[in-house]
Amino acid sequence: MTKNTFTLKSLKSKCLAGKLSVPADKSISIRALLISSICFGNTRISNLLESEDVKNTLNCLRELGIKILKKGSQFEIFGQGGYFENPQKELFLGNSGTGLRLLVGLLSTKNVDVSFTGDKSLSSRPMMRIIEPLKKMNTLIEHNNGYLPIKIQKNNDSSLPIKYSLEIGSAQVKSAILLASLSLSGETIIKEKFPSRDHTEILLKYLGANIKKEKNIITLKSPIFLKPKDIFVPGDFSSAAFLIVATLITKESKIILENVGLNFFRTGLFEVLKKMNAKIDILNKRLVNGELVGDLIAESSDLISTEVSSKLSPRLIDEFPILFVAACYASGKSTFKGLEELKFKESDRLKTMADALKDAGAELSLKRDSLEVIGNKTQQGGNYVITKNDHRIAMSMLTFGLAAEKSITVDDSSMIETSFPKFKETMNSINASIRNVSKYQTRYCHRWNSRFRKRNFSKKGSQSF
Ligand code: S3P
Repeated sequence: MTKNTFTLKSLKSKCLAGKLSVPADKSISIRALLISSICFGNTRISNLLESEDVKNTLNCLRELGIKILKKGSQFEIFGQGGYFENPQKELFLGNSGTGLRLLVGLLSTKNVDVSFTGDKSLSSRPMMRIIEPLKKMNTLIEHNNGYLPIKIQKNNDSSLPIKYSLEIGSAQVKSAILLASLSLSGETIIKEKFPSRDHTEILLKYLGANIKKEKNIITLKSPIFLKPKDIFVPGDFSSAAFLIVATLITKESKIILENVGLNFFRTGLFEVLKKMNAKIDILNKRLVNGELVGDLIAESSDLISTEVSSKLSPRLIDEFPILFVAACYASGKSTFKGLEELKFKESDRLKTMADALKDAGAELSLKRDSLEVIGNKTQQGGNYVITKNDHRIAMSMLTFGLAAEKSITVDDSSMIETSFPKFKETMNSINASIRNVSKYQTRYCHRWNSRFRKRNFSKKGSQSF
């Protein structure tokens, strides 16, 4: 089946203004669904993100026999305390790395036979990182050389908790182990070399799990009966990031974003932007089901360059593409280190973003796992972006176009649905100019861009920057 693509272009904009909410957090929405499904009783979730990735997780839970009802703006999950039915068909997780990795973890110790598939992008993402620790727990997992499709088999309760040292900063791997361990008897210990987002730990604790974190060591004592409680999903900081940077780089702009999740491991971008001279602030900090939430205020700013070390990387991993955009408009040379993990996202984000920014006229130097950006308040734009089906590339480059001299066109925007439904409408509601592009214009842009790239690369003699 061929998928409909939607080409969009963004034009130079100014005076962005408004007070608005951003879509609910994708990471927390997926966790809220999965963890509610193993509670003993019903959980009500408010403000669940209704995006493709979350819907795919929800549909998989229904296939596994979990009743889920939508009542007004709330979802009610009928938790079965860890009991799941064998699904009638393969579970399809679409584009969602989080949905897949967490669900494989959760089900690997639940005595079900399940097969998992996903879209082209998910099928090319590495799964050994979860398979390896889960196998150590004695689970039965088959895989295609470390990629999808993955199959889990019943293992008749022979799984065991493990002690595991996590060498990469990955909340998905950590969560897969924790969700697998909940039903086992004993102590699970995870040592994180690069601490990552802790939404799973926070939600498990909120629902009564015996979990604690000291320095970088997480200890979970299980089995545990999770008790249902109402969950409110805060706004997604990663979605807010596009609106914030759009405001900073356009003239005479000021916005307020309400109810944004401010989990420490998600807000590295805030700290980096602050150091870049960004006029941003947090108001009304509060705790909502264990998660820090607040309102964000941002204004047009004269950004200066920055340096980001690999230590900070897991705290802004999803925000690098939009941070590169901010660095393009900042004065001076910015350096970003520890970018290896970007290669394993919905696309190779390091290369896809470097290609797109280079085509837009930005001055960059890309190394194996680092990037240097020489900023300039004036950026040329005018290119056609190959997004490689990656939502964050599409949104980042459309944001770039709001301050560029010439418009930026992205080959497709349909995948933005995975995390930020109504991105175009939300941006336009604060006075940004993002428009649909007709099929005829799309063909023209594409041809023009191919010619531009050929000319550019042959001039430089090589494709490396
Ligand atoms: C996520 C963790 C991160 C992040 C992804 C969401 C999560 O991935 O990039 O978008 O919800 O746990 P890794 O765990 O692979 O770093």
